[in-house]
Amino acid sequence: MESATASRAQQFIGNRWVPAANGQSLPVLDPSDGRPFASIARGGAPDIDAAVRAARRAYGNSGEGAWGRTAAAERGRVLAKLSQRVLDHAEELAQLESRTTGKPLKQGRADAAALARYFEYYAGAADKLHGETIPYSNGMTVLTLREPHGVTGHIIPWNYPMQIFGRSVGAALAAGNACVVKPAEDACLSLLRVADLAAELGFPEGALNVVTGLGSEAGAALAAHAGVDHISFTGSPVTGTAVAQVAARHHCPVTLELGGKSPQLVFADAVLDEVVPVVVNAIVQNAGQTCSAGSRLLVQRPVYEALLERVGERISGLRVGPALADLDVGPLIRQNQLQRVWDFLSQAQVDGIPIAAQGVVVDSAPQSGFYQAPTLLRDVPPQHRIAQEEIFGPVLAALPFDDEDEALLLANGTPFGLVAGVWTQDGGRQMRMARRLRCGQVFINNYGAGGGIELPFGGVKSSGYGREKGFEALLGFTTLKTIAIKHG
Ligand code: NAI
Ligand code: MG
Repeated sequence: MESATASRAQQFIGNRWVPAANGQSLPVLDPSDGRPFASIARGGAPDIDAAVRAARRAYGNSGEGAWGRTAAAERGRVLAKLSQRVLDHAEELAQLESRTTGKPLKQGRADAAALARYFEYYAGAADKLHGETIPYSNGMTVLTLREPHGVTGHIIPWNYPMQIFGRSVGAALAAGNACVVKPAEDACLSLLRVADLAAELGFPEGALNVVTGLGSEAGAALAAHAGVDHISFTGSPVTGTAVAQVAARHHCPVTLELGGKSPQLVFADAVLDEVVPVVVNAIVQNAGQTCSAGSRLLVQRPVYEALLERVGERISGLRVGPALADLDVGPLIRQNQLQRVWDFLSQAQVDGIPIAAQGVVVDSAPQSGFYQAPTLLRDVPPQHRIAQEEIFGPVLAALPFDDEDEALLLANGTPFGLVAGVWTQDGGRQMRMARRLRCGQVFINNYGAGGGIELPFGGVKSSGYGREKGFEALLGFTTLKTIAIKHG
């Protein structure tokens, strides 16, 4: 299936559909069969510049533009309409998302629903974001204003284009910013379609712009543009570091969400029936290409064998196939991502790390697709790269531990700190672990990979900084102004 925008190879700048300034385009591959099926504009520095100028006109130098002047309640109304438009087109968006990312259709549908929900949530929040008054000297009144940054840049990865667009652009627009979005070159058709839907709703020209193209061209140009007042980046630590360094040259604040190596800590008193399906889903959802994937399974020794057997059994039953066949797991995004996972697995083999279980790629999956069977590796040494690095594929590393202290050492013992899951019925232990885990989210007796529109989300250490999702995200998309009035 091909949408009008997919075949046009155009970008959305100042409420107009335009080709890349250089006239070039890029192919979009279907990960389920590895073949090109659409093309996008190969935007670069001139296109980013046009989009930043359009956004600046919409916001104004200091809020005097058409979008900058739009009242908070009205911004909320437009976002609410966009939410409804997404729901009305949810199936079309889900199919586009699944076709371009390779995710099973049920996940594409969940992502379309999440996108609508993000717009709904931030629509309702737009006019509830306000400052404070501060007690100060006699004869003075001090108040704070929450003001938009102005023009915000959004660099979005290919794993959850719609969800990450919703959480970052939804919050930025609600807070009053004009947005320039650079989606990932691999998977951006759904976002072009969302821009199409937004165009019909009456956003002022330039409030929302989508420029497609390569990271090294359009992405780098957005990070470097002196007209951008804030950058929100989700992707790899290497690219995130480069974006932050470039943005620092013009003192542009950056929010970085850089993935993780998130642990599931299972204690001997956990209810294993509840643990097994959640732990497996947390690593195979989106074929493991989830920043908050639960990629390490830390198990207290008395239940290590029993849990591994049950997790292994479930993984062995998983079927991997084309996105639109809607099986348990789809293909990875592209050949070099598959190669990356193979490199980790062959290293495991060389170092004698046992495979405890593997799922099955179905016979009908095209040979040219990027399929990887979900894999459970056991007894992984804590310092091995399988237990330390983000694989970004359906590979779960299991390690045993003896007590709470060792569990914490292992859990906190990677460069990352995004999410953790703790499974125990002991209330005291739940709180001790939650407080001592170094990460941005802790789930007790559940694990919310990818979900939780209302829940502030983000990392510490190499997982990045700043928070998106929830009301907290609105604070990140504003800057605070203090006004001190002497009136006697
Ligand atoms: P990436 O971090 O290079 O790409 C993410 C986004 O940044 C894309 O929109 C890309 O076009 C853009 N980008 C790339 N280079 C840029 C630059 N120099 N300046 C500005 N923007 C730039 O991720 P990539 O190469 O697609 O995947 C590599 C690895 O990154 C994966 O194997 C995975 O481990 C990790 N990753 C993590 C994600 C997460 O959600 N935590 C998402 C995507 C990738
Ligand atoms: Mg890259």
